[in-house]
Amino acid sequence: MLEDTYGHSPIKKMFELADVYGVGYDEERAAKKPIRLGIIGAGGVALSKHIPAIMRLKTIWEPVELVAVSRRDERAGKKIESMYGCRWCADYGQMIEKETLDGVLVLGPDDLHAEHSIACMERGIAVLVEKPITRSLVQSRKMCEVAEERNVPLMTVSNKRCSPPYRRAKQFVENGPVSNPAMFCGKFNLGYDYVDLFEAGTIHLFDLTRFFMGDVNTVNAIGVNKYHRNRWPYPIDNAMVQFEFTSGAVGTVYTSATAVSLKPWERVEVYANKAWLSVEDQYELVLYDSEQGPAKSWKPVIPNTLIFDEEFGGFMGLIENFLQVIRGEEKPIVTGWDGHRAYELNVASHLSLARKARVELPLDPEAADAECRQWLRAEG
Ligand SMILES: NC(=O)c1ccc[n+]([C@@H]2O[C@H](COP(=O)([O-])OP(=O)(O)OC[C@H]3O[C@@H](n4cnc5c(N)ncnc54)[C@H](O)[C@@H]3O)[C@@H](O)[C@H]2O)c1
Repeated sequence: MLEDTYGHSPIKKMFELADVYGVGYDEERAAKKPIRLGIIGAGGVALSKHIPAIMRLKTIWEPVELVAVSRRDERAGKKIESMYGCRWCADYGQMIEKETLDGVLVLGPDDLHAEHSIACMERGIAVLVEKPITRSLVQSRKMCEVAEERNVPLMTVSNKRCSPPYRRAKQFVENGPVSNPAMFCGKFNLGYDYVDLFEAGTIHLFDLTRFFMGDVNTVNAIGVNKYHRNRWPYPIDNAMVQFEFTSGAVGTVYTSATAVSLKPWERVEVYANKAWLSVEDQYELVLYDSEQGPAKSWKPVIPNTLIFDEEFGGFMGLIENFLQVIRGEEKPIVTGWDGHRAYELNVASHLSLARKARVELPLDPEAADAECRQWLRAEG
């Protein structure tokens, strides 16, 4: 596992070994079992986040090979082939049939995630699928069931869980002083008008809610369509969601599609007994654990050449964990069922808005999907 350095090179490499970028030969890492990866849907997030993270892992001696990628556009496919020395295949089915792959990153459009993931798992290939896991609870349950039946790893992308501020915050919740939290508060701003407020954006916050607080018993949402800011019809542009957790704790997430995106857009707060913490914009972690003592805070040193976006964004840690899960060496940081449960908070929020009432979890996937779709059609 990557050392918890808040995103810069490991101290020993930097100071003792004079290896400031952490790229010197790493005997232990290089000795791991080689893993062969493929990508289905090599578009924006693949090119900007996942492939750079794989390349940085290779740079620090991780034995991983990007063997093949699939996307339908030939010009872009050929470019990826020449840039990364992998094979491009227009048809993902042919790619997973012809190539010998240990794992596939499923990074295509949301409504194809289930088809692509199941096709891989049925061939015994491990899957890391982007968020949201898919666009229906029936499908996400099916994906998790196929993974269990075939005994194949299924993980959902939750890069934020591996991003240094959230990773360290989680340690304070697990090991103290912010133990056994009583309350969670998260906010998410979305200035883009072309993605659905809950499903495409706030889903990150729904996953973080469960990451810090565990399972949710009830969901209660209120919302308004004040400025009709979504490019296509969508029933709300601002909403607040309240949670009651299985642990007895309470929490809230508030989310806005009418704010701006290029200003602070995300905050998480976790409150415990005489201690609380906040993570501002996936950047600064502040721990308040004493009435009189100072607050403790951590920030990355941005102009420092030793900060790697691939690591700070969390993609590198997540993919490293995926490789270790394939090798049978680590447990997944985020499972398929975690993706299903995060999506369930999205559906439950819609249902609570539709019914103007509190919703109990777990949801019945068939009934919840149908009611949610009907509300989105009627109100959107
Ligand atoms: N974790 C994050 O922070 C984050 C950020 C952005 C996007 N995402 C998610 O990543 C996924 C992809 O988003 P994007 O912005 O990269 O979209 P994109 O449209 O840029 O890329 C998707 C790619 O999939 C390809 N594709 C479509 N159908 C295909 C098929 N049948 N076979 C092979 N390739 C196919 C398209 O040609 C396209 O290149 C979405 O699920 C999105 O929600 C996550």
